[in-house]
Amino acid sequence: MTLNDIRSKYLAFFKAQGHVVIPSAPVVPENDPTTLFTGSGMQPLVPYLLGKDHPSGKRLVNSQKSFRAMDIEEVGDNRHTTFFEMLGNWSLGDYFKKEQLPWFFEFLTKEIGLDPEKLYVTVFIGDEKNNVPRDTESAVIWKEIFSTVGIDAKDVLVGSEEEGYKKGMQGGRIFFYDAKKNWWSRAGVPENMPVGEPGGPDSEVFYDFGLPHDTKFGNECHPNCDCGRFLEIGNSVFMQYIKKKDGTFGLLPKQNVDFGGGLERIAAASNNDPDVFKTDVFENVISLLERFSGKSYSDARYIRSFRIIADHIRAATFMLADGIRPSNTERGYVLRRLIRRAVQHANKLGVAESASDESMLVKCATLFTENYSEPYPELNDEREWSNIKDEIWKEEKQFWHTLEQGMREFERMVSGDITGEQAYVLFTSYGFPFEMTFEIAKERGHAIDEAGFREYMKKHQELSRASSEQKFKGGLADHSEKTTRLHTTHHLLLKALQVVLGGHVKQRGSNITQERLRIDFSHTAKMTPEQISEVENIVNEKIREQLPVTRSILPKDRAEQLGAEHEFGAKYPDMVSVYSVGPKDATLEKPQFEQAFSLEFCGGPHVENTGDIVGSFKIQKEEAVAAGVRRIKATIQ
Ligand code: ALA
Repeated sequence: MTLNDIRSKYLAFFKAQGHVVIPSAPVVPENDPTTLFTGSGMQPLVPYLLGKDHPSGKRLVNSQKSFRAMDIEEVGDNRHTTFFEMLGNWSLGDYFKKEQLPWFFEFLTKEIGLDPEKLYVTVFIGDEKNNVPRDTESAVIWKEIFSTVGIDAKDVLVGSEEEGYKKGMQGGRIFFYDAKKNWWSRAGVPENMPVGEPGGPDSEVFYDFGLPHDTKFGNECHPNCDCGRFLEIGNSVFMQYIKKKDGTFGLLPKQNVDFGGGLERIAAASNNDPDVFKTDVFENVISLLERFSGKSYSDARYIRSFRIIADHIRAATFMLADGIRPSNTERGYVLRRLIRRAVQHANKLGVAESASDESMLVKCATLFTENYSEPYPELNDEREWSNIKDEIWKEEKQFWHTLEQGMREFERMVSGDITGEQAYVLFTSYGFPFEMTFEIAKERGHAIDEAGFREYMKKHQELSRASSEQKFKGGLADHSEKTTRLHTTHHLLLKALQVVLGGHVKQRGSNITQERLRIDFSHTAKMTPEQISEVENIVNEKIREQLPVTRSILPKDRAEQLGAEHEFGAKYPDMVSVYSVGPKDATLEKPQFEQAFSLEFCGGPHVENTGDIVGSFKIQKEEAVAAGVRRIKATIQ
């Protein structure tokens, strides 16, 4: 089955169970300071899991574009990818375990056609310390589900992963594990959760590929063993708890289900082949790499490079389509690293720098945009595509140049065994990757002081961490009162800029901390001092007028018709959340939306009244950031 088949079947299946299909959020999270990228389907839904009403109702389903930067180094085996699609369905205080578990089982066995004999499940063993009971409820439900297909499912206690390697399968089908394996929150186990974070016990489904156990991983095999026999293909989180101020757990206002399943992994199970790179979206890409390099994917010396290139270029393509550009900070840096690692592995496959922009990597990206054109038409948009291609090519060319320079420096600097400092200087001053230094050393029979290199790198990273801790990571740094005040001020500022500079002004980026707000907007000329003070006056006037700030849920068409500001090219669900500022006295004759000073598609949070902003608005800096894009930094004093 293709990824498109499985995705469509999943959405249709849950739609038939009363779910509303919501679009995938971008891989760049909106207003979420906890992370650089959207790494799971629930992330954009956190406010709703915490109790807010979702405009599309209580049963939601989607396939979310996800990216996990921490997995970059893991890519190369048969199951890890940095980018993936997470199939998700959510109950926001609606159904619970006894609906969720049978539905997912039915989807896997009836819709995808997986053999029930090959499915094994895990449930939460309980946590006395945190007063969370053992999830016997889920175990009973699973027993009943398996009995409907004639399987007598025995439940067995495991505990920790380490115990799993000792106890093995124990003839079980339902396995009780501890919080490290069967508790889910964005922060992991209960102890790591910050105050206010939601989480709960979960139940995972594993597919058995029937491969022999590899004792390199532990004495006995069990569902959470890493030997490759089992692959986790879905996780139903029972999002019931919230960490309280005193460190104990309380119940959330609603008992939610947060389900996530890796689309590529379900496809691998349906192929009965554990290699996710053998699923359809990678097929023509791997063939292309084989043609260009003359190497074979089945050659153990090269398979890792094939997988790294395929994974990284797919991730880069999706990131570029969501507006990320290679740079030296944050998201841009991750993207840069992906493209550069792909170049490095192209080099490893023996592929040389291309003379034209039709390079192997650009061609890979082309194939991905075609392979994904149906579910993600944004990739196939002609303008978007030409941007993606240009950016990959630009970055690629630059890095080939870096490699060449690094190679020259290497020859100049190194004449025998390589010291940690040399490898460090090659990397930090010339951008020459450590892996390459390592490989060349190996080829030439030189020793290399890897521990010394790591020591230098650690010091280097400590320095850069210290300087980036101040920096903020998402749209809003947090939901504190100060940040919220600046968020509403941000809406006032955008409108004021349009009033003073013209309707062509559109938001191109934003970033809000407790101390200041930042807005990037489309405008070519530098603002004059008069324009700046005019904008300041308007914002201050609106603060003084004490206008009400109102959230409304509207059909998307209606909100667009009203001219609500929204992000260019972003996908929105059918019902959207809109914030309006003013007017003071909406009546039937003077309807709110037509009279509002500002109207924006936005998830919040905001102050209730502009009077709550309290203080005087001041623009601190106005500068260019890119061709046709200006940036303002401003505060409330
Ligand atoms: N949020 C859960 C996960 O990411 C479903 O595994």
